[in-house]
Amino acid sequence: MTVNYRMSAPNEKQRLFFLDTHKYVGYGGARGGGKSWAIRRKLALLCLRYAGIKCGIYRRTYPELRNNHVVPLLRELVGVADYNESKKIFLFPNGSTLQLCYADNQNKLNQTFQGQEYDVLAIDEATQIPEEWFSIIRATVRGVNPFPKRMYITCNPGGVGHTWVKRLFIDRKFSDRENPDDYSFIQALPTDNKALMESDPDYVGKLEALPPKLRRAWLEGSWDIFDGQFFEEFTDAPEHYGDRLYTHVIEPFEIPASWEIYRSFDWGYSKPFSCDWWAVDGDGRAYLILQMYGCGGSADEGVKWSSDKVFSEIARVEREHRWLVGKSIRGVADSAIWASDGGEAIVESAERHGVYFEKSDKTRIAGWMQMHYRLAFDETGRPMMYFFNTCRHAIRTLPLLEYSKTVPEDLDTTGEDHFADSARYFCMMRPIRAAAKAEEYGRRADPLDQFKETGGKIYSYHGSIRRY
Ligand SMILES: Nc1ncnc2c1ncn2[C@@H]1O[C@H](COP(=O)(O)OP(=O)(O)O)[C@@H](O)[C@H]1O
Ligand SMILES: [Mg+2]
Repeated sequence: MTVNYRMSAPNEKQRLFFLDTHKYVGYGGARGGGKSWAIRRKLALLCLRYAGIKCGIYRRTYPELRNNHVVPLLRELVGVADYNESKKIFLFPNGSTLQLCYADNQNKLNQTFQGQEYDVLAIDEATQIPEEWFSIIRATVRGVNPFPKRMYITCNPGGVGHTWVKRLFIDRKFSDRENPDDYSFIQALPTDNKALMESDPDYVGKLEALPPKLRRAWLEGSWDIFDGQFFEEFTDAPEHYGDRLYTHVIEPFEIPASWEIYRSFDWGYSKPFSCDWWAVDGDGRAYLILQMYGCGGSADEGVKWSSDKVFSEIARVEREHRWLVGKSIRGVADSAIWASDGGEAIVESAERHGVYFEKSDKTRIAGWMQMHYRLAFDETGRPMMYFFNTCRHAIRTLPLLEYSKTVPEDLDTTGEDHFADSARYFCMMRPIRAAAKAEEYGRRADPLDQFKETGGKIYSYHGSIRRY
């Protein structure tokens, strides 16, 4: 779809944003509020209106800068400004410029902004950068021309910059050197973005499928929510609502031969490792069926297992257990096990035992989102991820994990997160869309019927080595 630059108009919140004349204008506070659109449009309009001004848009990574700004601007500014690809700068006929910049580490940030001067600079998704970076960037908004200096700051709750953005724009707590009159904030929610509501009506539905804290942050723009239990949606005790049973933890059942099997693995050096076997049914629903959990490396107490011993046990389970024997098992593991300090890398030890892994996708927040999507109950009351009640370290550790104090939508890594990491690697191998929709759910055998049928009989291998 091509957007006609002169035709498309700002929505109500974007209009307020366009009219705001504070030195630091905060905009957003939720997902999909039309933030990127608003800053690139505002800066382009300023360049057109005023001759010889210098504007810039900063975004943390190049792929994000490209998708959110370079590509749309190239389309929107056809015949309006020229683009210099190598310098990533748009040149307007009146001498004004719009520079696009990114830097995802502090060295690059220093290089990018050293000696620069801007009249107007926008930071897109400022909550992705620490306050120190903000100080470096803001120092470049200066100069001797009479054009008023201004910064536009778009944001979502969460991210490493959550605290400073919240302080300045939401809580309005200022230091002596900051003038409160310089700061304003305009909240834009996804529902304010009519263009998005029309082009992707499903968008709000996806956000509604999130557990309450994330939903309040990303849909409703709440900044006060990243506290306490991380997987708040996880239920290990079945809850009945009407004739529906809501639970993530179920009795084991026999795995149909046609189901795919996956193995995810998080290695613990002095901490527990977690090796997890997943079965996936024809609907893509995952079941944690077996778990081996314990301490490799130098355990201070209990049984000390070398990597050799861990992988020979994993290989043995896969040779012997009736759910795994003869299956082609796709394995995924933390890429750290490929590292070697001169000696044998952990992964080489695994391969000697015929245990193979792919490197996991380590994008943490996206991985947690995948877990939240899978844990969400659909309209039929079923999640996309179940846990056999024999996998007790999974069931024990998930509810204990808490939100990080420094990266708000991440979890606190000082908790016992080995199973959660392993589950996240698995999820990133088989990403799903938000909240499974009931209509896609055919009438296949329902494993939950086992609640009536198994009478509590448990079939499983239990490979726990050390109790936590
Ligand atoms: N006023 C508008 N007119 C047309 N399309 C818009 C407008 N505002 C936003 N959009 C479109 O809505 C979608 C989401 O907007 P975007 O600015 O990317 O949101 P955010 O940066 O807040 O996530 C994009 O496709 C964008 O082009
Ligand atoms: Mg954006």
